[in-house]
Amino acid sequence: MGSCGAQRAEDAASRGGRIRIAGLLAVWVLAVSLTGCGGGDGEDVATTTTPPVDEALQAPDAPVVIAHRGASGDAPEHTFAAYDLALEQGADYVEQDLQLTADGVLVALHDATLDRTARGPTESCTGAVATKTIEQLRECDMGSWFNEAYPDRADPDYVGLAIPTMEEILDRYGTDVRYYIEVKSSGAESGMEEPLVELLTGSGLVDGGSGFRQVIVQSFSPESLRLVRSLAPELPLVQLFVVSGDQLTEALLDDVVAYAVGIGPSSVDVDEALVEAAHARCLAVHPYTVDDPTEMVRLLDVGVDGMFTNVPDVLLGQRAGHRAPLECTPEAAGR
Ligand code: G3P
Ligand code: CA
Repeated sequence: MGSCGAQRAEDAASRGGRIRIAGLLAVWVLAVSLTGCGGGDGEDVATTTTPPVDEALQAPDAPVVIAHRGASGDAPEHTFAAYDLALEQGADYVEQDLQLTADGVLVALHDATLDRTARGPTESCTGAVATKTIEQLRECDMGSWFNEAYPDRADPDYVGLAIPTMEEILDRYGTDVRYYIEVKSSGAESGMEEPLVELLTGSGLVDGGSGFRQVIVQSFSPESLRLVRSLAPELPLVQLFVVSGDQLTEALLDDVVAYAVGIGPSSVDVDEALVEAAHARCLAVHPYTVDDPTEMVRLLDVGVDGMFTNVPDVLLGQRAGHRAPLECTPEAAGR
């Protein structure tokens, strides 16, 4: 696993994105020319019609690679450098963990406090993120901690990286990528659900016209997920489970079926019996967080539908030949 500079990641991701979009356009133009659809006689279809978004993001045909906090093994978590690198590597989903600022802005940050990953003025960049305004957070450097913690992967370009807001993330990537968004919650509803659904709606990511499960919302809190469901029933939801050392019970799975399309257990709690029990209920299984290739293969062999990893490039190298994600959908299963 090599280290990659933020600028290099950004340049490559931008290049990769352009190539991907150009490729999709070429396929679409070819399809249009073969079917005769999409333009009138003598009309330049490529300039008069845009390709349908759901053709650009079809259902993945292999277990999905979910970039945990971006490609966070090689770049500072929840920065555009980590997200861009994940996309450049070919991850299917980029994960965002959400926190809410004092002035109601959703930002991508794993911890409820800033101390581990932020550097900058103490007043603005230490303590609980919920006590800071977005203006204060903009003073924080979210990359230097990575260079301190991982000198072997340090890069001067990581110094000074900003905390991204969810709105900035959606502005940057639009409908070109898949998002796997965690509503962080210490218990019941978090206050993040309504602003999140509002942002996703404004970006055209809720109404089902954006490709197969382009956005998945995940949470450890069933209350939070149920609220998201009440606000946007179209959004697919995944129920996370804390590490227990025990397999999840069938009764728990029966509860989850009522509102979610999948489960996100800790990898150590996943075996073939759990995958079978989940699949029998049409629930996808996406374990977290797996960086060891041997463990990746074990999980792929027991039939998981994808997994969270800090090293998407490693998982992409392991998943070839493994089964596609769960074919049944709750809709097909009649719920
Ligand atoms: O969301 C899946 C996994 O990321 C849960 O653990 O603590 O990394 O958010 P955490
Ligand atoms: Ca998470």
